[in-house]
Amino acid sequence: MNLATVVLAAGQGTRMKSSLPKVLHPILGKPMLGYVLDAVSRLSEKKPVVVIGHGAQQIQEVFKDSAKFVFQNEQLGTGHAVLQAMPTLAGESKWVLVTYGDMPLLSSDTLQRLIDTKPDNSHPITLLTVFLEQSHGFGRIVRDSRQNVSMIIEEAHATEEQLKISECNAGVYVFDSEWLWKNLPAIPVSPKGEYYLTDLVDIAIKQGKLVKAISVEDPREVVGINNRIHLAEAVSIMRERINERWMLDGVTIVDPATTYIEPSVSLGKDTIIFPNTFLRGKTIIGENCSIGPNSMIDDTKIGNECVVRYSVLESAVLEDRVDIGPFGHLRKGAYLSEGVHMGNFGEVKDSVLGRGTKMGHFSYIGNAQIGENVNIGAGTITCNYDGEKKNVTKIGRNAFIGSDTMLVAPVELGEGARTGAGSVVTKNVDAYTLAVGVPARSIKKFPANKVDEDRE
Ligand code: UD1
Ligand code: CA
Repeated sequence: MNLATVVLAAGQGTRMKSSLPKVLHPILGKPMLGYVLDAVSRLSEKKPVVVIGHGAQQIQEVFKDSAKFVFQNEQLGTGHAVLQAMPTLAGESKWVLVTYGDMPLLSSDTLQRLIDTKPDNSHPITLLTVFLEQSHGFGRIVRDSRQNVSMIIEEAHATEEQLKISECNAGVYVFDSEWLWKNLPAIPVSPKGEYYLTDLVDIAIKQGKLVKAISVEDPREVVGINNRIHLAEAVSIMRERINERWMLDGVTIVDPATTYIEPSVSLGKDTIIFPNTFLRGKTIIGENCSIGPNSMIDDTKIGNECVVRYSVLESAVLEDRVDIGPFGHLRKGAYLSEGVHMGNFGEVKDSVLGRGTKMGHFSYIGNAQIGENVNIGAGTITCNYDGEKKNVTKIGRNAFIGSDTMLVAPVELGEGARTGAGSVVTKNVDAYTLAVGVPARSIKKFPANKVDEDRE
């Protein structure tokens, strides 16, 4: 496809009242400009050209190589903004698509319909229009007696009669490139001292050419974001779109209105999401899971048939059939192997819990390697921090950690080791050995098979 794209994003976004450039404000975790770049990237292999001014450096840092940036140091209007892309794009494509960085809901399907009109020298512009009961500062589409577009009148310059027109200019255009780059520098300066891209319509008509228009089916697609009320509306629309896609893909969402799934997340079929749940970042959830209510899951990989209730999970991994909560907290580097059960008020960080290990109540496990089928009694704590560095706790398979055990790291407990309730373990405990007391002393050894039988 011989198409170049220009995304206008130099405006200040004053009404956001923010120190963050407007187009970097996130919608479900992703900057709004990111949605625009995604939509246009589906239409053309050429890197989009983004016109930036306010907050230019910050915007470039976020998007780096995913776009080419050109600068508009003074915001002299939309025509002037596109002109800044001319040195980069003139002679580079057959068509040029122009859209805005603050219109993140515009779909690539709509843009494709616009492009499919294939502008040429006799019809150099196709623009996107939207029918609105109430316009919010949009330019109006004026049509002649044959219903052809004859001009766009900006709201500020419109007559009473023109203000009644419900067909508005969305601000999205496809141009015949050769015609665009030839005529763009000829845009006259407006009474407000700006160069209006919309004046190209006037220029084309005066040359006896045709300007085509197609209208957007869903007006919500062309909602431009100017303040934080619009931002919240966009979040809500985007949330609905994403949720609907997952529901059609076989995920049950009990209450879509309170379920926030970021676009980068993936979900398996027959998983059910309960209300007030946030799935964010690079989270991947398998099939037949039950997630929520009231859970927040960031950058976490979850296998099949897992249950997560009232919990916060961050940068963790859960294999299949793991069960967490209510009120569990997994932090960076928590790895829960198949069948792990973690009950209420547990926290795990930088630790591996082996298959089938259980920690039912009130425990903190940090910097630990815990084998299979370990029972971690209520209130067990790995004392991993000595005030200077983090130390490692190792627990062998089939160990039984008594309630309220303090494991003062670095420390190692062998396979099948046991600790008494309330013990403070400061020294290693051998395999199949019971340690009790403060500080804990090893007092008894078991035959290995006895321990295993007890556990059956
Ligand atoms: C423009 C259109 C109007 C249309 C409306 C739809 C013109 C003259 N008018 O209105 O017909 O109904 O969009 O939203 O084009 N920008 C720059 N540099 C500038 C000026 C603007 O990059 O010098 C960017 C802004 O960041 C924004 C976009 O262009 O993303 C639109 O600018 P805005 O001022 O909102 O457009 P209007 O002129 O109000
Ligand atoms: Ca606007």
